[in-house]
Amino acid sequence: MTELSPFETLYDHPHGHDIPLPTPLDQIYGRFSLPKVVDRTYVISNFVTTLDGVVSLNAPGQSGGSEISGNNQHDRLLMGILRAVADSVVVGAGTLRAVPRHVWTSEHIYPALVPAYRQLRHWLGKAEAPLNVIVSGSGEVDLRLPVFQTPKIATLIVTTKRGDHLLHRHEIPPSVGIVSDGAENAVTPTAVLKAIEKAIGRGVVLIEGGPHLLGDFLADRVLDELFLTLAPQIAGRDHTVERPGLVSGHCFAPGDPRWLKLTDVRRANDHLFLRYQI
Ligand SMILES: NC(=O)c1ccc[n+]([C@@H]2O[C@H](COP(=O)([O-])OP(=O)(O)OC[C@H]3O[C@@H](n4cnc5c(N)ncnc54)[C@H](OP(=O)(O)O)[C@@H]3O)[C@@H](O)[C@H]2O)c1
Repeated sequence: MTELSPFETLYDHPHGHDIPLPTPLDQIYGRFSLPKVVDRTYVISNFVTTLDGVVSLNAPGQSGGSEISGNNQHDRLLMGILRAVADSVVVGAGTLRAVPRHVWTSEHIYPALVPAYRQLRHWLGKAEAPLNVIVSGSGEVDLRLPVFQTPKIATLIVTTKRGDHLLHRHEIPPSVGIVSDGAENAVTPTAVLKAIEKAIGRGVVLIEGGPHLLGDFLADRVLDELFLTLAPQIAGRDHTVERPGLVSGHCFAPGDPRWLKLTDVRRANDHLFLRYQI
């Protein structure tokens, strides 16, 4: 169980339909809604950033989201909800390299509420765990990592022709699928979504980063929503290390800016939890 205080809702402009959350998720998070989209995959994303826009400290052993959020428990609980409503969770290979022992399930991010997350997936008719999807151009991913070696978690690697060749030099664990549409360098977001649809059908896809992958999804305008946690930390930057913001590899403004619509603001102590429609 958990002793977390409830989120305080500061602004709520719900869209879609309410998804009932099992107790105590309902008591802590409050109302949760998602649009009911059946004719295509619905794509949401979730990030945490410092006040000065840093999403990774990019320091050895300290480049995960926990260093950004301050290991914030409300943030972890919300990540658990988003993973619980998702049919698949997608990350780039850079994110996997930053947190190599991670698996993208609610259980992993917030173990105290496993029964509630399981109940939620059961109510929604979802598989036991979301499909974990790793996007890699190079194919340089270590198939011995937990995300590939946990039998109850099905994992898909979406990669290029070159990545496909490299990966098939190794023994592929039974829970892992590898998909390549023959791309030379990068995989398009549309190809990622197609591979997921082919594997498990349409549903909710959660993009959990990192900045390169998110940039590609924003660039191709295939992202529906952004959940953004604002951690009350100023990380700073200097010339010794690159500290990425939400997006790497693309420049939108001023020529082709992305303006979002704010739909939800919640607070837990000094952290802000923002939700935008794109
Ligand atoms: N604060 C947060 O909420 C948050 C969330 C996620 C990640 N992060 C942090 O972000 C950092 C990693 O940043 P990053 O930009 O390197 O992350 P990333 O986008 O996860 O990883 C980049 C790598 O992913 C693969 N990739 C991404 N898009 C691709 C595409 N369209 N086609 C083919 N391959 C693609 C490539 O892998 P190959 O190198 O194999 O070609 C690329 O080098 C980590 O420190 C992580 O902890 C923070």
